[in-house]
Amino acid sequence: MLEIKNITKRYDDKTILNNISLNIEENDFVSILGPSGCGKTTLLKILLGIETSCEGELLLNKKNIIHTKPNERQFSIAFQNYALFPHLNAMENIRYGIKNQKQPIGEEELNNIIQMMDLKEHINKPISSLSGGQKQRVSLARALAIKPKVLLLDEPISALDGMVKEKVKNLIMASAKKLGITIVMVTHDPEEALTMGNKVLILNGGHIEQFDTPANIIKKPKSEFVEKFINNLLILKFNNIKEVLDAE
Ligand SMILES: Nc1ncnc2c1ncn2[C@@H]1O[C@H](COP(=O)(O)OP(=O)(O)O)[C@@H](O)[C@H]1O
Ligand SMILES: [Mg+2]
Repeated sequence: MLEIKNITKRYDDKTILNNISLNIEENDFVSILGPSGCGKTTLLKILLGIETSCEGELLLNKKNIIHTKPNERQFSIAFQNYALFPHLNAMENIRYGIKNQKQPIGEEELNNIIQMMDLKEHINKPISSLSGGQKQRVSLARALAIKPKVLLLDEPISALDGMVKEKVKNLIMASAKKLGITIVMVTHDPEEALTMGNKVLILNGGHIEQFDTPANIIKKPKSEFVEKFINNLLILKFNNIKEVLDAE
């Protein structure tokens, strides 16, 4: 459905992404995982069309869209910091992207999204009065309302904590399933990547370490980096908990 072919990005003479190629299938939920500064956001921006690549192609259903303007790609994005319009209320934010669309979403469908994001009681509130979790739900509803061909998420739950993080995580996964959409989500948290996506792309230093199912990433890490980044972290977490239990 979306083929990323030999994408290379340099800033000055520094190579940020080096010859990245992968295929994303319809309805895939791809988690992009990697350490801070490895080029995750840059790759999302290239997919969205707000950043150019130096080399490579992007094929959406076999059509090269690398030179297609962002608004014509019909991809949407939600960011870690929500990026909402502070002078508009929740509903106005959600409606923002719809008005320029050739085939805007119907009212019933829009209501479904608002309901799905559990926003009914907050819909007329100013953005400043909303909590972090509520803001992210508005941002997700706004992204979903344009009926994106691909939904891009840049660390959507990184700024949230505890139960709120869990709630937004579950809402993202439930809406992906219900709406049957293709999602590419960036995260630096192995646990999020492994539990939310059906495929995980591990980036390091601008290249692909592994693109695989979560189970294969855990069971068959292709490099020492993957093993260290994923498994050691998970084992460490598990051992810490075990130590607490063993101390009893
Ligand atoms: N506009 C830019 N100009 C120069 N360097 C940039 C620019 N945007 C990002 N970078 C650099 O590219 C690298 C990757 O950034 P980014 O994609 O934001 O990483 P990540 O999202 O994985 O943390 C970083 O070293 C960052 O400093
Ligand atoms: Mg980033």
